[in-house]
Amino acid sequence: MTKSGRRPLMAGNWKMNLNWREAHLLVQQLAARLNEQQLTDVEVVVLPPFVDLRSVQAAVEEGKLKIGYGSQDISQHAKGAYTGEIAGSMLTALGCTYAVMGHSERRQYHSESDEIVNAKVQAALASGLTPIMCVGEGLDIREAGNHVEYTVAQLDGGLKGLTAEQVEKVVVAYEPVWAIGTGKTATPEDAQEVIGALRKRLAELYPGGTADKVRILYGGSVKGSNAAGIMAKPDIDGALVGGAALDAEDFSKIVCFSEN
Ligand code: 13P
Repeated sequence: MTKSGRRPLMAGNWKMNLNWREAHLLVQQLAARLNEQQLTDVEVVVLPPFVDLRSVQAAVEEGKLKIGYGSQDISQHAKGAYTGEIAGSMLTALGCTYAVMGHSERRQYHSESDEIVNAKVQAALASGLTPIMCVGEGLDIREAGNHVEYTVAQLDGGLKGLTAEQVEKVVVAYEPVWAIGTGKTATPEDAQEVIGALRKRLAELYPGGTADKVRILYGGSVKGSNAAGIMAKPDIDGALVGGAALDAEDFSKIVCFSEN
């Protein structure tokens, strides 16, 4: 454990990549590169497409792997006539422990508002899943200097109505949109500025130690070569990794950031 007892979390968001066979193989390749100690020091999670979850579950169970998995989205509804949606209870039945909501790609292409993100956080918690709630500003907002207030407002909206006990279970991921898939990583200082402000806001909203328990990740062009610098910052508890998570070697280097 580091940073006030918060265990580092490295989560690989595979986005819309890999079929079920490729997913099975990647989990095995990743596990082969990590030893018991590394998987104890750092929590490792993969977030495959829905249709790969069953084969990821099989790989994890067959190998008794200490790798968690979850979904990239979740329905805000529990069940019923919502064509194309996936409910939290379906995810827990597959052994998922995490669900992402509010990723910038879903905010942008699927009109996911803070209200919807909030409903999805509540749906995940109601199903016993740990929400990974994403926030982050676009380039225009960053250039106007409004990135802190913008992301803090997303945090407020996404957590609306939650108790302190519920918020302690939430993982927040700060992903500046301009750094996603562009190779432009925010500097560790840029990431710390916003993540520190998010933690400060949590302390204001939930006095009494909640803010110290919530894990806040950085995402956006994280690689084996830059993970250690990002993780050196006091409020950054892990990474939400896109492209590099599709490569077992690079993702395992991120997991082992403390050895670099
Ligand atoms: P990249 O690591 O490919 O920039 O993607 C980040 C991301 O969006 C993870 O959710």
